[in-house]
Amino acid sequence: MSALSAEGLTARYPGQPTASPALADVCLHVESRERLLLLGPNGAGKSTFIRVFSGLMRPTQGEALVAGQPARIARGSVGVVSHATYLYDELTVLENLRLYAELYGVPRPEPRALDLLGQVGIPHLADMQVGRLSRGQQQRVTIARALLHEPEVLLLDEPETGLDQAAFGVLENVLWGGQYTVVLTTHNLARGLRLGTRAAVLAHGRIVHERRDLSDGHADELAHLVEDLARG
Ligand SMILES: Nc1ncnc2c1ncn2[C@@H]1O[C@H](COP(=O)(O)OP(=O)(O)O)[C@@H](O)[C@H]1O
Ligand SMILES: [Mg+2]
Repeated sequence: MSALSAEGLTARYPGQPTASPALADVCLHVESRERLLLLGPNGAGKSTFIRVFSGLMRPTQGEALVAGQPARIARGSVGVVSHATYLYDELTVLENLRLYAELYGVPRPEPRALDLLGQVGIPHLADMQVGRLSRGQQQRVTIARALLHEPEVLLLDEPETGLDQAAFGVLENVLWGGQYTVVLTTHNLARGLRLGTRAAVLAHGRIVHERRDLSDGHADELAHLVEDLARG
């Protein structure tokens, strides 16, 4: 069973024409511990793919499965990092993490939260109000939040836009640890290639290109393809 699989996956927003849904008949399987780099120009459907597999949007047709279960009921297996921080400013770092731990039914939430704060390099900020942290520090809390419930799958939608350099480095180290199945969208192809083990290119909601063996040699080829698609 694949960690993540799309079968004939079509997703359309209300009001979107039937002929041009955000995702159209996507078939894709990501095996355990693979890291898929999802590329494509603006509007290609990358964020929609992440949204569907986060369980936040239902497929219009076809299936989006996480470990064999429909994505919307497999949310406990998925961690998400996107532009939003999903944190409560008035609560402390630890209170935020405890809240999410409860939501996900994490056993022994406090030691788990403290362990993660160590991993993301801010163990000393546990009792600080989130609203008083710097942006970079908040981003580290966001990463900790995404990992709290020990998800098997990480979905990262342009994480570099929400993360400063240091926080992105923390995330890179987490990914290089190799224990997660990852889908990553990014504007920064060079960075993406360092992190991904394979790539798929979306255009107008369809997969138009796949690369199963990523190496530096493919950077130019993929960059040109995405540029051409962006030009239309
Ligand atoms: N909330 C929304 N309502 C209606 N259409 C949307 C919404 N979000 C995205 N779309 C449309 O769906 C398509 C795919 O968008 P998106 O998945 O955000 O692309 P990407 O992340 O690759 O830039 C685009 O045509 C976009 O305009
Ligand atoms: Mg997007």
